[in-house]
Amino acid sequence: MREIADAKDLLDWYDRHARVLPWRVSPQDRARGVRPDPYRVWLSEIMLQQTTVAAVKSYYESFTSRWTTVSDLAAARDEDVMAAWAGLGYYARARNLLKCARAVASEHGGQFPADHAALLGLPGIGPYTAAAVAAIAFDLPETVVDGNVERVMARVHNDDTPLPRAKPVFTDYARALTPRDRPGDYAQAVMDLGATICTPRKPACGLCPWRKGCAAWLAGTAAELPKKAPK
Ligand code: ADE
Repeated sequence: MREIADAKDLLDWYDRHARVLPWRVSPQDRARGVRPDPYRVWLSEIMLQQTTVAAVKSYYESFTSRWTTVSDLAAARDEDVMAAWAGLGYYARARNLLKCARAVASEHGGQFPADHAALLGLPGIGPYTAAAVAAIAFDLPETVVDGNVERVMARVHNDDTPLPRAKPVFTDYARALTPRDRPGDYAQAVMDLGATICTPRKPACGLCPWRKGCAAWLAGTAAELPKKAPK
């Protein structure tokens, strides 16, 4: 029987190769007990929807230096926040950002709730963002599924079911692999794997910590997955 991809192999790789990102607590600092600021995790996840890491960095820096807590952001003038967001696009995100900051300030005493269902109840927070904040900020064992994760799961299982039909199955695969230990680092490790190694085209399988447990690598089909239903 083939070896199955194992969260520990990915976490060992992440400990050595985690990208340094302004909103991220390094795995070494995390192991020393440094906790991510839920406000910063949430802000970065909202900015990173439909927007690249490179484009987000300077906006993230300017928002967090101007509004250092979610309560500061909640008290900001709408025009100031919309002006600071200008250029990032998808402006509904900025409007929801303010609504969410104000809801956290008024309904949660200025603290993001450490609970997936409560996070889902906040404006602009859907299943992806709720899972990302729960896992990354609070180390809750939630599974984060974005396009990167779907690609990695399609390949690990060599599953050619086309997207979007395959979504629930790929989500189940992702859930089964999520460890109870270090779920926040694990979520970020899968993101890094998808961004740097398990890339859409020309995946760098030779460098992949999950290669031995990857059915697509064994079959030589990684670059062809995931399949997409014709539009
Ligand atoms: N894309 C979405 N969330 C991300 C994160 N926390 N780090 C890097 N890329 C991301």
